[in-house]
Amino acid sequence: MSSSGNKSAVAGAESLEADCRNARLHANENLLGASGLALHLCMSMPSLLSEYPEVTYKSLRTAIGERWNVDPERVVVGAGSDELIDISLRSLLQAGSRIVALQHSFKMYKIRSELLGADYSEIFPASGEGYDTTLNIALQKNPDVVVLVNPSNPLGDYLSPSALLKLVAAIPERTTVIIDEAYAEFAPDRENSPGVQIVNARKNSICLRTFSKAYGIAGLRLGWAYASADLVPVLQARRAPYNVSSFSALAGEYALWDADHLEKTATHCLVWGQEIVSLFQGYGVQARSRYVNFVFVEFNSPHACKSLHDYLAREGFLTSPLTDYGLDNCLRISIGSQVQMTRLCDVLRKELDAVERQKGPRDVDALNHSHRLPTTLSEN
Ligand SMILES: Cc1ncc(COP(=O)(O)O)c(C=O)c1O
Repeated sequence: MSSSGNKSAVAGAESLEADCRNARLHANENLLGASGLALHLCMSMPSLLSEYPEVTYKSLRTAIGERWNVDPERVVVGAGSDELIDISLRSLLQAGSRIVALQHSFKMYKIRSELLGADYSEIFPASGEGYDTTLNIALQKNPDVVVLVNPSNPLGDYLSPSALLKLVAAIPERTTVIIDEAYAEFAPDRENSPGVQIVNARKNSICLRTFSKAYGIAGLRLGWAYASADLVPVLQARRAPYNVSSFSALAGEYALWDADHLEKTATHCLVWGQEIVSLFQGYGVQARSRYVNFVFVEFNSPHACKSLHDYLAREGFLTSPLTDYGLDNCLRISIGSQVQMTRLCDVLRKELDAVERQKGPRDVDALNHSHRLPTTLSEN
């Protein structure tokens, strides 16, 4: 091999190494990166750094209105949907208010509700019949807010538009419904999102969307709320005048029209999500990934989960344990780049094969094998 050939082989190996060193598979970011179109256009505009944004964000709201067929007057922008969750809950809850969410909903809802002194509770599917029964029981307490995260994080569950609309139809109009669609762009109905349909049809409703997931600009912190007309001024009043930077607003506006990037991201996550799910299932471990950019993995025990988490960390893959959600035996693994996912599959197979060899097939609990566990760990 020539010396230049040698160099490029080394560079290739180094970039592969870099891609897999502390691979960020713990935060549901877009590891294919941001829309190149958005980045390219924004980088050529230095005034974005020196000038305050236009205070009403009319241009971004108009672009969102055109792209998603919503009324721009009813769009409120925020520094990520995290800020819009915060603004919405501060607008709707106070000490003693009641808020109900689906089981294991994205943790910001519980954290923010409890800070406000509200009573936060969750509903769960009753013996395979969906949420209808437990929602009806929760509604007897007259909640102020019901939150429906769909597709959901961290469970990766997905309610079809008809199932979601049926749930919302049961909720009285005085209760505000928040539909969190952070992962909507990964769902098959993304061009006609049920969240937007609900806000168009119902008073007291808010649909939350983000640029952090499919669009890959989590670092720029940009999200938007589409709210029923009566709620728009209430939300706007709690937003700081320049809550979104000029750079973020314009990058979002451009990213909206980068259909190739969106399509590539959604397909990549679908394909790799299925690949990782079948890999785990092949070893008898439960896993799912439907219309999100991560895989939810459920082990037989907290030890098995922690053992695989620690092993992956040693191999350079950061993943997200779900102990904060009370899911001690579950792990969330975000979909990474092609290189990261290819190596992740190899690394997973190596470990799961070793477990099978040691303890026999299908004994996933064998991931607890002692040489990998810190001595302080005990089963709980
Ligand atoms: C369901 C859900 N909603 C909202 C958010 C917040 O996203 P961001 O603040 O980056 O828009 C996340 C982030 O993981 C999420 O999973």
